[in-house]
Amino acid sequence: MLDVRGLNKVYEGSGRRVEAVRDLTFTVDAGELVCLVGPSGCGKTTLLKCMGGLLTPTGGEVLLEGRKVSGPPPGMAFVFQEYGRSLFPWMRVAQNVELPLKQKDVSRSRRPELVADALQSVGLADAADAYPWQLSGGMQQRVAIARALAYEPQVLLMDEPFAAVDAQTRADLEDLVRGLWRERGITILFVTHDIDEAVYLGERVIVLSASPTVVQEQLKVDLPDERDQLHTRVAPRFAELRTHVYEQIQAAKRGTPQDAVKADTPPPH
Ligand SMILES: Nc1ncnc2c1ncn2[C@@H]1O[C@H](COP(=O)(O)OP(=O)(O)OP(=O)(O)O)[C@@H](O)[C@H]1O
Ligand SMILES: [Mg+2]
Repeated sequence: MLDVRGLNKVYEGSGRRVEAVRDLTFTVDAGELVCLVGPSGCGKTTLLKCMGGLLTPTGGEVLLEGRKVSGPPPGMAFVFQEYGRSLFPWMRVAQNVELPLKQKDVSRSRRPELVADALQSVGLADAADAYPWQLSGGMQQRVAIARALAYEPQVLLMDEPFAAVDAQTRADLEDLVRGLWRERGITILFVTHDIDEAVYLGERVIVLSASPTVVQEQLKVDLPDERDQLHTRVAPRFAELRTHVYEQIQAAKRGTPQDAVKADTPPPH
């Protein structure tokens, strides 16, 4: 579904040159839920923006169903890390959620239903008529998530979407994402710096190195599809996987070259 090939991004300007992403190659299959973890500043947001056609890569390319991405593709939704800046303050919550549906040419009669369903699923049915600035940070982020859900995307790119949300809501939203993924068969690429979250959510975890960024490791999460906050997180296998990812990230921060770990090989039991 998504194919990232030799992606490189260099920011240049004001006499400063930053190689945010050196050389990234990986794929995401249709209907897969992949989590991407990496140290702060390693270029995760840059990568997602290139994948979503919001930034032009300096080198390499991103393919969506075999076609090169050169602008925001229809069928793809984005939940930004900076949610505060992604909602329009002069529009009510429901209007914010509805806006992309207008652009997608969803009929006027169907829109209210999609908006109401999406707000309901993030627990914000009551906030439809509020303005974003009347809501807490966590609530604003849930509005951004509702907007992406209402759009009914084929591919959903999420950039640390739960970073500003309290632990309880976060757990609920994690289950919401997994539930939607299982019901609707969306392809999801989920960026997080939270190792437990990556292992809990993903079918696969891609660990990025520190900047200049390459893929440090790809890890298959061989936990059962049926997951829940109580049991999955205390399972011995969960602990093994999180420890493994943790070690990889520590190695990534130190910049130590890895023992060649084959893609998709889970750590031994
Ligand atoms: N518009 C920009 N102009 C210049 N440099 C930029 C720009 N955006 C990002 N960078 C630089 O690129 C590098 C990667 O930034 P990016 O935001 O992609 O990292 P990140 O992994 O998402 O970080 P975080 O975990 O903190 O969200 C950083 O060194 C950053 O300073
Ligand atoms: Mg970021």
